[in-house]
Amino acid sequence: MMAQAFPQIGLRPFLPADVPILAAIFAASVEGLTEDDYSENQRDAWAAVADDEEAFGKRLGSQLTLVATLQGSPVGFVSLKGADHLDMLYVHPGAARQGVASALCDAIEKLAGARGATRLTVDASDTAEPFFKKRGYAGESRNTVTVGDEWLANTTMKKMLAANDQPGERPS
Ligand SMILES: CC(C)(COP(=O)(O)OP(=O)(O)OC[C@H]1O[C@@H](n2cnc3c(N)ncnc32)[C@H](O)[C@@H]1OP(=O)(O)O)[C@@H](O)C(=O)NCCC(=O)NCCS
Repeated sequence: MMAQAFPQIGLRPFLPADVPILAAIFAASVEGLTEDDYSENQRDAWAAVADDEEAFGKRLGSQLTLVATLQGSPVGFVSLKGADHLDMLYVHPGAARQGVASALCDAIEKLAGARGATRLTVDASDTAEPFFKKRGYAGESRNTVTVGDEWLANTTMKKMLAANDQPGERPS
């Protein structure tokens, strides 16, 4: 048998005790992975969103949040807001380009589909845009949002979920 290229990625639901480590992953991800697309001031403002851990924990807990692990330690997370909007997707720089975000999105797309969503939207950062494009998301609109004192650009993208992702019988 061929050796596995990477250690196996685990997935599990978010627990309240994960908040500090997910806040740290959020900040490290923004600071470490987005420098080609956003200025230092923009990254600092964006990373600071997780500084208020209580608010950050409430946001994670109010959404369907999945945690990805490598050898038992969290390395990334995704959150689904409402039925069909991907709110957060962040991977630690030390675990980037190993398929972690792909595993998280595979799972959340399946869960959303199983709950009846027919499409997913995301306000993708310029860093994440190629990732979502490769997954079949298409750009809908270009936006500018304020984060702290900074303006950041992103792109609203949409993917239709395949009908065969829906569970159960289809009406005839
Ligand atoms: C975007 C992000 C989540 C991708 O996480 P990841 O675990 O590295 O992604 P994967 O390893 O699953 O990537 C799968 C494929 O997507 C594409 N991809 C991923 N990151 C990319 C990048 N920075 N540039 C171009 N293509 C990229 C590649 O085709 C990659 O396959 P490959 O590594 O075999 O070439 C990660 O870079 C991140 O956390 N960025 C900072 C935070 C952010 O912008 N979040 C999104 C908010 S909407």
